[in-house]
Amino acid sequence: METRRLAPTPEGIAEAAELIRAGALVALPTETVYGLGGDATNDAAVAKIYEAKQRPDFNPLIVHGADKAMLEAFVEFTPLANELAQAFWPGALTLVLKRKADAPLSLLVSAGLDTVAVRVPDHPLAQKLIETAGRPIAAPSANLSTTISPTTAEHVLETLNGRIAGILDGGACKVGIESTVVDLSTDRPALLRPGGLEAERIEAITGPLARPEKDPEAPRSPGMMARHYAPNKPVGLNIISFSDQDIIIWFGEDAPKNALNLSPTGDLVEAAANLFAILHQADRMEGQAIAVTPIPETGLGIAINDRLKRAATS
Ligand code: TXA
Ligand code: MG
Repeated sequence: METRRLAPTPEGIAEAAELIRAGALVALPTETVYGLGGDATNDAAVAKIYEAKQRPDFNPLIVHGADKAMLEAFVEFTPLANELAQAFWPGALTLVLKRKADAPLSLLVSAGLDTVAVRVPDHPLAQKLIETAGRPIAAPSANLSTTISPTTAEHVLETLNGRIAGILDGGACKVGIESTVVDLSTDRPALLRPGGLEAERIEAITGPLARPEKDPEAPRSPGMMARHYAPNKPVGLNIISFSDQDIIIWFGEDAPKNALNLSPTGDLVEAAANLFAILHQADRMEGQAIAVTPIPETGLGIAINDRLKRAATS
């Protein structure tokens, strides 16, 4: 794929918005760092983000809105969330809030949590792009996993050239480090990641924030969190022979009758897009255990298997 470099003009924005609406990935400037953006309401687009970033697991993603009103359809704003949004948005603050049950948002952005991280970036191009696309944009930092966060279009192209459909060039990011992430979804507000907005300014409103890395009682990082969705039924992996009582999750062609198929064509991006919906569906079905066929340990299969292992052991 050739990565189109889009100018910060009305035409460039329109083209970027068209790509987002079509489910393609576009890197976009924000005031903190460049984001690797895709339509947050589209499972396949979100799966492509994980694929492009080459992460070995599904870390949940930040959903970016053009304004707070756009995000109200997806998460519950508590009074404290309203105060912080009023004080610091648009800006380098990400709020983790309870996901609304009927939120028309990809399950993959939450990576199995019952929360969503949301923010309104303080960048005219980002806001215009989201507004023109008419949908929220999910975006991790626009770099390959384990490489440094990008603050110019050139940085983005160093690792993602050819892996994304376009990049909206907005020059250098003024803040240069990622947003501060604050979790307001539990009784005790917690600082999950220090970032571009100073914690003291937030604490002037919230009072002292819990620091998970210093305080064993505070909510832990998403990968470890108990609130990560896990089916109630036992989950078996790499199963090749099944009992009548099994709810079968299949990958690829020749699925047994009644199996839930992650991807009939054996496409790992499609499988990632379907993963959380299928786990929920399996949990609601009649049967004793969930049995999953082998899934290749390559590309997105690595993150899918990581997630299934967590489901199997929790
Ligand atoms: O400045 C930024 O935040 C940039 C720009 C593009 O907005 N984005 C960014 O995204 O840094 P990313 O994916 O690299 O980092 C998102 C952070 C991760 O630490 C992730 O674990 C946390 O936010 N996060 C996302 N959703 C979460 C959730 N539902 N619960 C807890 N933490 C969450
Ligand atoms: Mg990052």
